[in-house]
Amino acid sequence: MSLRLGDTAPNFKAVTSKGEIDFYEFLGDSWGVLFSHPADFTPVCTTELGRTAQLQGEFDKRNVKVLAVSVDPVDKHLGWIGDINETQNTTVEFPLIADDNRIVSGLYDMIHPNASATATVRSVFVIGPDKKIKLTLTYPASTGRNFLEILRVIDSMQLTAKHSVATPADWNQGEDVIISTAIKTEDALKKFPKGVKEIKPYLRYTAQPESN
Ligand code: BEZ
Repeated sequence: MSLRLGDTAPNFKAVTSKGEIDFYEFLGDSWGVLFSHPADFTPVCTTELGRTAQLQGEFDKRNVKVLAVSVDPVDKHLGWIGDINETQNTTVEFPLIADDNRIVSGLYDMIHPNASATATVRSVFVIGPDKKIKLTLTYPASTGRNFLEILRVIDSMQLTAKHSVATPADWNQGEDVIISTAIKTEDALKKFPKGVKEIKPYLRYTAQPESN
């Protein structure tokens, strides 16, 4: 049974490159990104884990804990992390789950048998502080993910969790946002002191509200 938006992210215990973890304890009150990799010592995965490590400060700023999954054992992970640090000029600080028993891959439906019987696809789950699944992405093994896009979506989700707004196509931090259709224009004028730009009664923009 696949996991859908709004479902509770299943908890698990796992052995990782940073020792044993309980997923919920690891997350605490933070947001989380759980993402899978087909296998250790593969080129695309090497660049993906390296890119995530390079962006660690951006995840920290947003209060997001990162956790990777690969179906190889921990001794293999440790050797691979050495290669990632060396070739991608970074230091991987986040844990990499040793899912050789496929428990986490199974819980999160990361093995798609018609793509590969044994390797995980490139899944991404973004989990909110309430432990609900906020975003799912599935990429094929041959296509590396765009980690700036994952940060962009997290920015949108953190903003829209606090304010009655949505973000338009290709939105980036600092750009105008769309006012929820549930808010009447007269109320929007009070709620959004930076102004309301009405293009159509259902399409109204305001400047991005402050994040706090
Ligand atoms: C890679 O990470 O390079 C990769 C992994 C599995 C299949 C194809 C590419």
